Amino acid sequence: MTAPPLDLSHHLSYATKNKKPSSVKGLYKYFQTPGIANLAGGLPHASYFPYDTLEAKAALPQRFESKDKKDAPFVRVTVPKESPTSDLTRKIDLTTALQYGTAQGYLPLTTFLRSFTRDHLHPNVPYVGGPEVLLTCGSTDGFAKAIEAFTNTWNPDRDWIQQREGVLCEEFAYMNAIQTVSPRGLNVVSVVMDGQGMLASGKGGLQDVLENWDFRRGRRPHLMYTVSTGQNPTGGTLSVERRKDIYALCQKYDVIIIEDEPYWNLQFPSAYEKTVHYRGSSSEPNLYTKNYNAEGKSSGYAYLDSLVPSYLSIDIEGRVVRLDTFSKTIAPGSRLGWITAQPAIIERLTRITEVSTQQPSGFVQSLIAEMIVGQPDDKSRKSSKHIASGWHMDGWVRWLEGLRAGYETRMQAMCTILEENKYLFHGSSEDHIDAWEVVDRMQMYEFIWPMGGMFVWVETRVDTHPLRSRYSPERLAQALWIHLAKKPHLCLVCPGSMFTATPMSAQKAYRYIRLSFAPMDADEVAPFTQRLVEGFRSFWLRKDLDGLGDEDAVDTLNSRSVNLLGNGC
Ligand SMILES: Cc1ncc(COP(=O)(O)O)c(C=O)c1O
Repeated sequence: MTAPPLDLSHHLSYATKNKKPSSVKGLYKYFQTPGIANLAGGLPHASYFPYDTLEAKAALPQRFESKDKKDAPFVRVTVPKESPTSDLTRKIDLTTALQYGTAQGYLPLTTFLRSFTRDHLHPNVPYVGGPEVLLTCGSTDGFAKAIEAFTNTWNPDRDWIQQREGVLCEEFAYMNAIQTVSPRGLNVVSVVMDGQGMLASGKGGLQDVLENWDFRRGRRPHLMYTVSTGQNPTGGTLSVERRKDIYALCQKYDVIIIEDEPYWNLQFPSAYEKTVHYRGSSSEPNLYTKNYNAEGKSSGYAYLDSLVPSYLSIDIEGRVVRLDTFSKTIAPGSRLGWITAQPAIIERLTRITEVSTQQPSGFVQSLIAEMIVGQPDDKSRKSSKHIASGWHMDGWVRWLEGLRAGYETRMQAMCTILEENKYLFHGSSEDHIDAWEVVDRMQMYEFIWPMGGMFVWVETRVDTHPLRSRYSPERLAQALWIHLAKKPHLCLVCPGSMFTATPMSAQKAYRYIRLSFAPMDADEVAPFTQRLVEGFRSFWLRKDLDGLGDEDAVDTLNSRSVNLLGNGC
């Protein structure tokens, strides 16, 4: 039985409740009415836009299957100045794309994404009518808007503690999100994780946090920020069963879930298989044994049916706000993404968009729309190896699956070397007759094969280091980071301290490093990882930490939430 989504307007911030539709934006939809005499808008005349076309050479979706990189199939993408079609959902041209538009986004792209989202990505959202979409300038922008919509700032000099709002998140979290929330004076409240992600029950799990909330800290959190697929930094993916448990708690305590999913299409079935192969069993369940849409509507694609579905698929009340981005599927510089949520929430977010970004850049939207959607029935372009009109839905899904294959191979290359070099065998045959009897087996690190995403979260086992009685674990972890960054290893890894949502998680995080298999060439993953494990080995063989006190580096590592890598990541 389905019902309409709940009215969750009591969660809206003061400013968001008061937002009125932009009076100018209300007129935009009339501007494109065929034959209308537009005497109203202050729109620059399209003939004065200096661009006559926008052209690019781009991949075809089957590029990943091509062995020969030089002969990889490509397509010429041309956004014309003016498309003759009167179908606005297919009219991709510079005259419309470079003009002011509506806050929902560029119609041809919004139409495609709405269909992708509702019919293929989340075909079984349970509430009546299903979700709506709103284009954003990427997930960072989507999150900032969601935070504006659902939170009021809190100022200790002005406001009562009872007014202080809070945001729940994983104990190791994507720092940009935390940095969006913290300066607003909100409580950042971390929930303990395991290999999958956020715990529903148990000590420090969601139930524990919500049930035993200490109201002296402020209001019980009414918002959750979560990355539930290929989590950054841990690489975990939540099973549907865990999602259901967490969702039930969010219903009970009236929490809105903001699900940030830049890595949803990078889910790795082989992580489970490899874990069992190397270790005999896995602490995490095998998430890839079924068709998740078997009991509802199919996505139309075996690949999409096989992926662990979003919280949206169990969102009977309409309390999930999902963030998607093209950053990991096309390019971060496109600054393009979309929000999916129940229509009333999308309506408020649209009001926020109207008076902030207005909509993503027309250059980007039209170029991506042209590549994916293409021109309607474009008979002038004969389909050939180099010229085709749009990838269409099939091509887009094929591209996503191809990306998954590419990153999964890299993940395997990195994790195989990590797996096979976890231990340092150390002994001396000079002092003893039978060297094997005295060989020490020291485990230098541990990790979970990532179930998705771009990262391996490695727990360094500094507690096994021969110098552990002379130096604190924190000092050893710092020294290891510097040792790895120095010659001859020259490996820059992300310190765990970059992902600590709260001071409590900082106490655990110093032991971790995050490795990414994404940024280097595919054939560099293995040699770089080999260099890294050699760095580990030589660190475990050190007799002292001389030369590893680089003050700048230590300061960097000590400062929580420092961003070594620029925005994003
Ligand atoms: C969890 C998470 N959210 C958001 C982003 C940034 O997304 P966007 O480029 O769409 O703003 C990243 C980038 O690494 C990320 O890991």
